[in-house]
Order: sequence, then structure tokens, then C-alpha cells
Amino acid sequence: MALKRPYSNSDKMAASIVSQFMQSSNDAHRYHLQITGPGSYAQHMAVGEFYDAIKGFADSFAEEYQGFTMKLLKIEPTPAQEIKTKDDIVNHLNNLYINIEKTQEVMPCSALVNTLDEVKSMISSTRYKLVFLS
Ligand SMILES: [Fe+2]
Repeated sequence: MALKRPYSNSDKMAASIVSQFMQSSNDAHRYHLQITGPGSYAQHMAVGEFYDAIKGFADSFAEEYQGFTMKLLKIEPTPAQEIKTKDDIVNHLNNLYINIEKTQEVMPCSALVNTLDEVKSMISSTRYKLVFLS
């Protein structure tokens, strides 16, 4: 008999952040392919690492959440965002960071909070490279 946990209030937040991670990867990837001008190589590399990592976290966090709650998430699409400048990508990262913090507040266990901490660490590292190295 599978273990089922009644944490439905966190399901929507978890599904939303997974969808945001997936869309963030696509939005950042499109930007990655359009970066040009001074500092563009460092930015191209930093955004390249980011879109790859965030896509991986979408999958690993969703699997972990589903395995903990023994429920499948209903992952709705997140609208695409136009990222055209370095300021846009930094704002995108800031907003994602804030949404992760809100999600952490309702997570049912510390392991899931910790996985989201890893995403925040990766975002901060990306933000550092974008602001200071490009
Ligand atoms: Fe690339």
C-alpha cells in the first residue's frame, strides 16, 4: 500500500514552481542564443549553465515532491517571458528567487526545502557571474 500524505495546499505551489523552472529554462535558452556585444561571452556561458541547471531542477524537484507525497503534480504551463537584456535576465532571476522562497514556506518536509535551497544557490551564483563577470 502506497504511503499517501495529505499536503494538498503545497501541491499547487510545487506544481507552479516546477512549471516556472521549465519555462525559465526555455526563456533563458532563447536569450542565451541572442546575446551579443561587450561581455557577451561570459554572459552566454553563465546563461547557458543556468538554463541547463534549472531544467534539471524542474525534473529532480518534481520527482522528489511526487515521491514524498505519493501524488502526481498537475503541472500547468507558465506563460513565456521575453528576456532581451542583462537587466531582464537579472530581474527574471530575482523574481524566480522570490517565488522559490514563497514555495519553501509551504513545503511539507525539510528535504524539499533543501532542494529548493540548492536552486537558490545556483541562481545567486548565476546572478554573480552576470553582474560582475560580464
Ligand atoms: Fe549554447
